[in-house]
Amino acid sequence: MSVTIKSAREIELMRESGRLLAIVHDELGKAIRPGISTKDIDEMGEKLIRSFGCVPNFLNYQGYPASICVSVNNEVVHGIPRRDRILQEGDIVSLDAGLIYKGYHSDAARTHAVGKISPEAEKLIKVTKQSFFEGIKMAKAGQHLFDISNAIDAYVTSFGYGIVRDLVGHGIGTKLHEEPQIPNFRQRRRGPRLQAGMTLAVEPMINMGTGDVEWLDDDWTVVTADGAYSAHYENTILITDSEPEILTIIK
Ligand code: MF3
Ligand code: CO
Repeated sequence: MSVTIKSAREIELMRESGRLLAIVHDELGKAIRPGISTKDIDEMGEKLIRSFGCVPNFLNYQGYPASICVSVNNEVVHGIPRRDRILQEGDIVSLDAGLIYKGYHSDAARTHAVGKISPEAEKLIKVTKQSFFEGIKMAKAGQHLFDISNAIDAYVTSFGYGIVRDLVGHGIGTKLHEEPQIPNFRQRRRGPRLQAGMTLAVEPMINMGTGDVEWLDDDWTVVTADGAYSAHYENTILITDSEPEILTIIK
């Protein structure tokens, strides 16, 4: 299958899917504090998603056993929520969440500070978020997909951080993962041309040290190879003829 172009009706559904997910992230963000477990976050998120009449799209996805991916410190993505994993002051925690509204998927991630964190960790979170915004400056009809990748790479590399290469962003719509794949690192081609009506999940995963990652024995949790902290920032966006529309942020 190739990259899908959403109709006006589909775009409306993607907008509502994204708007609801933005609310989920805002609520989860407010709940982050020392003493809560990663399972508490998952339960809160799942409840909220279902309260909107939506379905958590990560739950049971290729066997993933929860609704919200909760990844702490050196964990990059796909951390599995646990009752005995308690957040501590100084931790950073990445929440990746998604939902299905009337058949349409949204997907977004944020990294939060738990209480007071080090200036180094603050900076990693800030640069990771900004790398998304640097990337999507290139995201408009007529530009090319890998212009986004190259912009993210140039920005992140200037801080000396490592970019995760084993995982990438993706198209999104009636499926969580659609074409195309969206690398967060430099490509030698410009890639496919962007067209209005494409919906994309752009998601830089940035490490304080090396970009190399490993998988834990649970076969899900991705961790940094050197044990350094990692941050994640993702939104579902809509390509238009002018500025991209960020669907998973409350306007
Ligand atoms: N945002 C992630 C992604 O785009 C999360 C989905 S993986 C899951 O791939 F298995 F945990 F659902
Ligand atoms: Co994603």
